[in-house]
Amino acid sequence: MPAPAACTASLAQDWRAGGFALYVHWPFCAAKCPYCDFNSHVAAVIDQGRWLAAYRRELARLGRDTPGRVLNSIFFGGGTPSLMAPETVAGVIEAARAAWPFANDIEITLEANPTSVETGRFRAYADAGVNRVSMGVQALNDDDLRRLGRMHSAAEARAAFDIARDCFTRVSFDLIYARQDQDRAHWRRELTQALGMAVDHLSAYQLTIEPGTAFGARHAKGGLRGLPGDDLSADMYLDTQDICAAAGMPTYEISNHARPGAESRHNLVYWRQGDWAAVGPGAHGRLTLPTGRWATEAHRAPGEWLDAVEARANGDSAREILDLPDRALEYLLMSMRLVEGLEIARYLAHGAKLPQDRLMNLSELGLISLRDGRLAATPAGRPVLNAILRELAE
Ligand SMILES: C[S@@+](CC[C@H](N)C(=O)[O-])C[C@H]1O[C@@H](n2cnc3c(N)ncnc32)[C@H](O)[C@@H]1O
Ligand code: SF4
Repeated sequence: MPAPAACTASLAQDWRAGGFALYVHWPFCAAKCPYCDFNSHVAAVIDQGRWLAAYRRELARLGRDTPGRVLNSIFFGGGTPSLMAPETVAGVIEAARAAWPFANDIEITLEANPTSVETGRFRAYADAGVNRVSMGVQALNDDDLRRLGRMHSAAEARAAFDIARDCFTRVSFDLIYARQDQDRAHWRRELTQALGMAVDHLSAYQLTIEPGTAFGARHAKGGLRGLPGDDLSADMYLDTQDICAAAGMPTYEISNHARPGAESRHNLVYWRQGDWAAVGPGAHGRLTLPTGRWATEAHRAPGEWLDAVEARANGDSAREILDLPDRALEYLLMSMRLVEGLEIARYLAHGAKLPQDRLMNLSELGLISLRDGRLAATPAGRPVLNAILRELAE
């Protein structure tokens, strides 16, 4: 059934509830970590000038597609964007500014690996306009860092973190838990130590064994012994919530914790279903244009993406219009990751339904809360979010 006209008009502006951001994918790493299935590649030679020219071309195209937007955030993700030359980062930021006016409080984040090679560039990134760094610390002991195939020690990660604090007002870091042979006491100690050095934001991800990675292959052959089971992983998840909250960095999204006000504005654009332009190999974007809301996807292989941009002035391999049920489902799946949850009126405006009997059941089980026009998972509901979503999406 088509949406009524008033609803269609409000849906054309729906992205404004989340804001507008730019994602820039840098697809290279110094080495491939055995657990990682991100679109990242090891390359002997990278022509940074050629990459910058391609990003510029893409940004000019996307700017033409989205006139009148104000940019709230830029995120350099990867791969390892801290392998980008500072001039490349500066050039991308300059091209973004030519495409859209920047919000006064624009957040510009760059993902960094904590090795000495990268920290030497931090000051230059700050001069280029980067105001937030997200560092992949992953673990705080050398044995586990080695097992994760990382190229830095715990001491190097700490040193890199101190340099990041000097160069940027906002610093986040990633940790991976539920690692081989890790028990609850170990994780609690490590997380408490990590919070001792935290600035304003921390992402704690449960190790997932992804098919197509080195860990995936080892696991399939019966290797990688000592991984925590579901119950222990769930306990570690609950410990993470408690310890982060006690340290003044409560959970605001399933895996993310921040001092109030220091949440990642960029990721909030995704979770609140704003619009984001995306450039670089494999990057996915969402853009609401006069013709509807589009999902964009760029060529995944770095060489193919470069060739496409250079030959056809467009790095996208696919562009698909999202229908209302798709949009509603995306809003449900993304917003329910947030502690603030989903805005019910906004969800219903997509023509979606919230079955009362299921809401009642979930609420009686203490898994969801319904308050101030919002639906959210409770602390008890967050570890079983996927089950809640299955109930609500059907
Ligand atoms: C694009 S990567 C990180 C940026 C940077 N290249 C680095 O490794 O430090 C983003 C984050 O995803 C997390 N991650 C990647 N693969 C993961 C997996 N299989 N399980 C859990 N977390 C993972 C890591 O914490 C990583 O820092
Ligand atoms: S975790 Fe980071 S450094 Fe390691 S392969 Fe993935 S993107 Fe590259």
